[in-house]
Amino acid sequence: MEGGPSDSDTLNPPFGTRLGAYILRVMPDLLVIDDLRASAEGVEILKGVSLTIKRGEIHALMGPNGSGKSTLANVLMGHPSYKTSGSILFDGVDISKMTPEKRGRLGMFLAFQYPEEIPGVSVVNFLRAALSNRTGTEYTVLELRLKVTDAMEALGMDASFADRYLNEGFSGGERKRNEILQMAVLEPDLAVLDETDSGLDIDALKIVAEGIGQLAGPDRGFLIITHYQRMLDYITPDIVHVFVDGRIVDTGGADLAKRIEEDGYEAFRVGAGS
Ligand SMILES: Nc1ncnc2c1ncn2[C@@H]1O[C@H](COP(=O)(O)OP(=O)(O)OP(=O)(O)O)[C@@H](O)[C@H]1O
Ligand SMILES: [Mg+2]
Repeated sequence: MEGGPSDSDTLNPPFGTRLGAYILRVMPDLLVIDDLRASAEGVEILKGVSLTIKRGEIHALMGPNGSGKSTLANVLMGHPSYKTSGSILFDGVDISKMTPEKRGRLGMFLAFQYPEEIPGVSVVNFLRAALSNRTGTEYTVLELRLKVTDAMEALGMDASFADRYLNEGFSGGERKRNEILQMAVLEPDLAVLDETDSGLDIDALKIVAEGIGQLAGPDRGFLIITHYQRMLDYITPDIVHVFVDGRIVDTGGADLAKRIEEDGYEAFRVGAGS
């Protein structure tokens, strides 16, 4: 009943509102994953994941160690280590065979759980290459420097970080901030944040949450992977998924995260088996 064309007709809203509502209805969802399976070295890790993220939604994915959360994030971005089946539609386009670069160009972004060191590549040069890939425009180092200065300041990163080699000698918290810096510069349509909160002190956590809040909006979607409610005290998710043993076993609102905090994952494990 709701969402049908008759609602807007009877209310007779201004043309702009009706057009807006129409566009929203015909636009494909941002991310539609259907029966996604992934295995590595003959072992199945993702066992049939289905998930839809609409524009404007913030999803949280919570689950115990080793349940396959990072694998899901990596497979979404096209990591070559996994054998996969099922479908991934991004903005209505099947991306499941695309390279990570192509996915990035389309507007997907992953903040890694364990950001790697890239010796010889400075922060600013990395951002330059990533932004050029995203926009199809070449930028000079100077242009990039101007672009990132504000974002770095907002994230409490010293300007000298721009010239350091990527993640080399970065503390855990600095690595996580740097991932958020990349997100702020690339302005992705879909951001997957894999435990960006872990290893952050409370001040850094607030800064990172602010960075996410600034980017969030009606055109973007987020998948926030986390173990703890802590991050969700600063960013209220619209939808929370519980992920156990390669599957989503429960989905609910923000209160589900609080239930996990109180009951742990064991209750869901039993539930999943019954
Ligand atoms: N490339 C790979 N080769 C072999 N095994 C893998 C590979 N990637 C993931 N696995 C295995 O799949 C399981 C899930 O790993 P994954 O990193 O996705 O878990 P996670 O839910 O992110 O855990 P955590 O909360 O500790 O980050 C683990 O047992 C892991 O060892
Ligand atoms: Mg992980």
